[in-house]
Amino acid sequence: MKKWSSSLGFILAAAGSAVGLANVWKFPYMAYENGGTFVLIYLLCLLVIGFPLLIGEMLVGKASGKGLFEAFGELGKPLWNNFGYLCILSGVLILGFYCVVGGWCFFYAGSYAMQGMGVAEVPGFGDYTGNGWQQILSTFAFVAVTIGVVMAGVMRGIEQMVRYLMPLLGILLLVFAGYATSKVGFSVVTDQLFTYNPDTLNGETVLKAVGHAFFSLSLGIGAMLVFASYLKEDNIVKAGLWVGVIDTAVALVACFVVIPMVLLIQKQGGQVDEGAGALFVAVPALLSDFAGGNWLNMLFFFLLSCAALTSSVSLFEVVASGLHSRLSPEGDPRKYNWIMGAFVMVLALITSLSVGANESISKLNLFTHFDDAVTLYLLPLGGLLIAIFVGWLMPESIIKQHFGKRAIYPVWRGIIRYVTPLAMGLILLQSFL
Ligand code: PFF
Repeated sequence: MKKWSSSLGFILAAAGSAVGLANVWKFPYMAYENGGTFVLIYLLCLLVIGFPLLIGEMLVGKASGKGLFEAFGELGKPLWNNFGYLCILSGVLILGFYCVVGGWCFFYAGSYAMQGMGVAEVPGFGDYTGNGWQQILSTFAFVAVTIGVVMAGVMRGIEQMVRYLMPLLGILLLVFAGYATSKVGFSVVTDQLFTYNPDTLNGETVLKAVGHAFFSLSLGIGAMLVFASYLKEDNIVKAGLWVGVIDTAVALVACFVVIPMVLLIQKQGGQVDEGAGALFVAVPALLSDFAGGNWLNMLFFFLLSCAALTSSVSLFEVVASGLHSRLSPEGDPRKYNWIMGAFVMVLALITSLSVGANESISKLNLFTHFDDAVTLYLLPLGGLLIAIFVGWLMPESIIKQHFGKRAIYPVWRGIIRYVTPLAMGLILLQSFL
């Protein structure tokens, strides 16, 4: 079995999976649309649900040393192995829309390079998403590269990519954030981000915040479980904390890039494609001040493409290896990569036309429906199941053995046994009422 070359390798791979489009593309526009109440609830959710579950999910993988369809059986509850089906469903749906946004990043990186060379002009976001061929080409490219990386089996490559390129993305975001924020004032952004407004506190906001915490941390889908099953040493808690802190930091910094620019463009009477388009409008607007703006845009979207790839590759691997172990463990694993790849390709290509390029497909709203189905229901459901398993069914002796001697154990145990399942159960229940 493949093992991480070091515990740092594991943290890098888990962070590579966690840090992606959810942090840089999605969180800022959600924070902008839903305001400070959403952000504060999100941070609270991370503390009482996200971090404890991250550790819980990793524990199941580490203690069993097995993947999606065997881990729970290995720990004495074979019926729970069916959890794998939920993960496969969630994984395929995520890839169905995630690869579309990954394609947008590819396209913007490539188009800014061409604009820099004076060969072509970068289209506006609305024109681009309305152009069927461009959507198909960029989505095709992103899915193809994802499959290529998985097929080439370049786990070490992913470690290296996260190790060197992700810090660079972090630095770029910090610099952009400083510059963008200076244009409107720090307090304007913090007011927008952190002001609690009781009027906007409702079940929907809470559900969105919890769901996003899962999506952003790659939780409730077995990804962290599978990663941790390759882990040799016992450093679950440390790894969980690192991954959580890095993920949250990137999401917050990205807000300081996007939100000021959106506010500024609106103040100047401009039209912002809010929602899905915010990042793709905000960053180019920010960089339009600079002579080398095209190349900076290219660099940014290239690095973001890499962050998206480390996430899509991890997701793809988890799902394809789950299918392989379920359907024919003795067979050739590459076969399942091809099957999954073909399926994801078709799904993502159709979804890519649902953001304006094709009228009938756009009416189906596939992009939003896939996103909502996973983030609002499937991932939280997966998380609830993990909390129940770890809190109530997994033998405590095994948990203690892998948790290590840490003072926070009783606190974590109390949270994962009572707080997390209760909170998740209530949140999910109210969403159906
Ligand atoms: N956490 C990733 C992001 O922030 O973009 C998305 C993701 C990757 C979710 C892998 C789930 C997963 F298994």
